Formats: sequence, C-alpha cells, structure tokens
Amino acid sequence: MAKPKDFGARPNPKNGRYRLISANWKMNLNHLEAISTAQKLFYLLREQDYHYTEISIHPPFTDLRSLQLLFESDRMPLSLGAQNCSDQPSGAYTGEISAAMLARLSVKFVIVGHSERREYFGESDQLVAAKVKAVLASQMIPLICVGETKEERDGASTDRVVSTSVDAVVRDRTSEEVSSFVFAYEPRWAIGTGRAATPEDAQHAAGVIRQAIAKRHGETTANAVRVQYGGSVNAANAASFMSCAELDGLLVGGASLDPDAFSRIIAA
Ligand code: PGA
Repeated sequence: MAKPKDFGARPNPKNGRYRLISANWKMNLNHLEAISTAQKLFYLLREQDYHYTEISIHPPFTDLRSLQLLFESDRMPLSLGAQNCSDQPSGAYTGEISAAMLARLSVKFVIVGHSERREYFGESDQLVAAKVKAVLASQMIPLICVGETKEERDGASTDRVVSTSVDAVVRDRTSEEVSSFVFAYEPRWAIGTGRAATPEDAQHAAGVIRQAIAKRHGETTANAVRVQYGGSVNAANAASFMSCAELDGLLVGGASLDPDAFSRIIAA
C-alpha cells in the first residue's frame, strides 16, 4: 500500500491501512473558486484531522495547476486528485487528458470508473481496466468506483455487479499493483440523492470487494487495499461509515464543495 508521503498521516492501528477522505468536486468551481475553497478548507482543518486521515481533492482538470501551486507554496496537507483520464498515452484523441499529463501536475490519485462516467459516457469495465493500467504506468494511484443501480439492488444483484467490476480491474494486474488500489463503493442510487446506504450495506459491499480481490491475489493483498464509501455522505452520517472495520475512508461529492461541511465530515 502506498504510504502518504508527508503531512504525518498515521495508519489505522487495527489494520495498518491509511485512511483516505476524498473530495470529488465534479464539474464545479473554476480555478479561482478552487483556490479560495481550498484556502478556506485549510484554515478549518486541525492538525489531528490530517494525522488521522489523508485528504485528497479532485477538482476539474482546469483547476489542477492552480491547486498544485497553492498546495506546494502554502504546504497544505492536501493531496491532489483527478476525476478521470484517458486510457491512451498520447495522440489524436481530441478533448482527452493523459495520465502522464496528470502525473506531471503532482496528481497522486485518479478517480476511475465513476458511475457518472459509466452512465453518461458509456464507460465499460474493460475501459475502466485500461484506464487503471494507464494510471499505474504513470505511478499514480487509481481510485476505482464500483456500485450497483437501483434495479440491480432490487434484483439482489449487488454482490455480482460489484465483484464483476472489481475482477475486471484486478485480474490482469500484479498483486503489488493491486495492493496500492483504492476502491470506492458507491451505490448509484445513493449518489447525489440525499439517500445514503446504511453502514451495514457499505460494510457488506467492502467485504465483497475484498473477496473478489482475494480470489485473484490472496488475503494479504485484499487486506492491503483501501475501501471508501461514497453516496450522499454528510457531516451527520460520516462517523457511522468511518466506524465500520472494513471501510477506510469516504468519497464525498456535493458536501465537499462547502469547506465548512467538508471539514466537519473530516472531523467527524
Ligand atoms: P454525493 O456524490 O456525495 O454528492 O452523493 C458522491 C460521488 O459521486 O462521488
């Protein structure tokens, strides 16, 4: 598992994994708004917050350079993340951004396979696996989203859908590569709806993710991987997810746009 480089984050003594709370800003905040939001967040964070957990910010591509410079010049204890990248290294792919370009901006984590990418941009498990490979080739960490739709949940297919998506990204990778992965269990019906899954659902899904990894790579690798919960996380429910033994963090959308709300989630 990749150790957070600075900021003094300590691993969870119960399992040796580093906690990770991530802000997915989606298509919100221009680069000026990004700077002021990150500054506000920084002033609200206390030292014990980033000793307890690593914090990553995933802004739109156009904000990355500004935040890179801000985090470095003001030594902010925040890691930079992206929301997506191309599976191709370079070339005639109009509108795409390569993994190498992100790595050059000190991006550490890249979200891959977010359900909005799967739903609105037709990303398949195969494409997600190719993107994971590209992220690894540029020495970054993939943050891979998996989760079921409402229909799949009603049809009791959650475990199958989650296992299939996990297997697609781990089967052609080495155990060493896989142990660096972060997964986010994000049930699609819980994203942006204000209707979060229960901690029990999230705990169960995290177990399903680890089982799918263990099948290909064994228990040690499965236990090294970090699993987040995402979907309508807020300051009121964050602690209930963080107290689940199988969960190592949170992927926060809407509530991460407000530094006050996001800092309360981290403090919780
Ligand atoms: P939400 O989004 O917190 O707004 O539900 C989570 C996500 O899509 O990562």
